[in-house]
Amino acid sequence: MSSGLIAVTGATGALGGRVARRLADAGARQRLVVRDPARAPELPGAEPVVASYGDGEALRTALDGAGTLLLVSAKEDADRVALHTATVDAAVAAGVSWIVYISFLGAAPDATFTFGRDHWHTEQHIRGTGVDFTFLRDSLYLDFIPTFVGADGVIRGPAGDGQVAAVARDDIADAASAVLLGDGHRGQTYELTGPEAFTLTEAAEELTHAAGRPIRYHAETLDEAYASRAAYGAPDWEVAGWVTTYAAIAAGELDVVTDAVSTLAGHPPIGLAEYLAANPESVDHLRT
Ligand SMILES: NC(=O)c1ccc[n+]([C@@H]2O[C@H](COP(=O)([O-])OP(=O)(O)OC[C@H]3O[C@@H](n4cnc5c(N)ncnc54)[C@H](OP(=O)(O)O)[C@@H]3O)[C@@H](O)[C@H]2O)c1
Repeated sequence: MSSGLIAVTGATGALGGRVARRLADAGARQRLVVRDPARAPELPGAEPVVASYGDGEALRTALDGAGTLLLVSAKEDADRVALHTATVDAAVAAGVSWIVYISFLGAAPDATFTFGRDHWHTEQHIRGTGVDFTFLRDSLYLDFIPTFVGADGVIRGPAGDGQVAAVARDDIADAASAVLLGDGHRGQTYELTGPEAFTLTEAAEELTHAAGRPIRYHAETLDEAYASRAAYGAPDWEVAGWVTTYAAIAAGELDVVTDAVSTLAGHPPIGLAEYLAANPESVDHLRT
């Protein structure tokens, strides 16, 4: 259980904002570590403080007096591991005793999903400091599945016939807030997944039903995937992250299904059909 003040990063974002709201609803005292205080959510018991990942001095000041840190991983960046490790070091220097880190399913030094490697290096750094930790290894966001579809109604990616048990951000937030407010989670690693693994062909069928328009999945080769994303002009590390999201599905690294959300949050996670029914606006861009 957290002792006293909980610092929450990423509170201007989708996941950190959801966790901050849940903590506020539970009456917790928290400090929202944000880059832009004007965008910090206004919540009872929460005060915004300004610091960016990597800015050690600002972070040490921002985290002074906090016992617990929820560290939401930074936006993908070539230097993301350095941003994370500097944030961890500042937290430890400020006296934080427990870091709850939002990691990724299958985090490993050789994970097919290249951004998943950042999470493993961050986890290793946290372990090395000796601070208490809990790692929440999230599957792919269920919320992102509708965004996989191109304007032509086709999901293109090198995912083969692989499966993914994508998990809704609301379910991750329920589990994360339960961890932060509960006992017995220090030293634990939880894999947060949806209720079932599905192929992108099955996802296309659900999206077809939700959008009322034919959506299909085209399994690209790796070469096709890199070629079809070249026009965006993004740096190589970013394109590799996009492509390997799908390649990790093909490799069977994201088909894991656990009961961690149910156990932690006290309710089962929602699946894709339920998510689309509850969030019809998520397919608005597919209806035209
Ligand atoms: N599991 C998945 O499928 C999946 C998919 C995408 C991303 N992710 C990871 O999960 C994280 C949280 O997801 P989300 O949906 O909440 O993302 P989001 O809505 O983009 O929010 C990211 C949050 O992190 C903050 N942040 C990012 N880089 C920062 C930095 N260098 N210094 C300080 N704050 C920084 C952002 O602050 P600002 O508002 O100031 O930008 C924002 O509050 C992402 O950042 C990413 O690492 C996971």
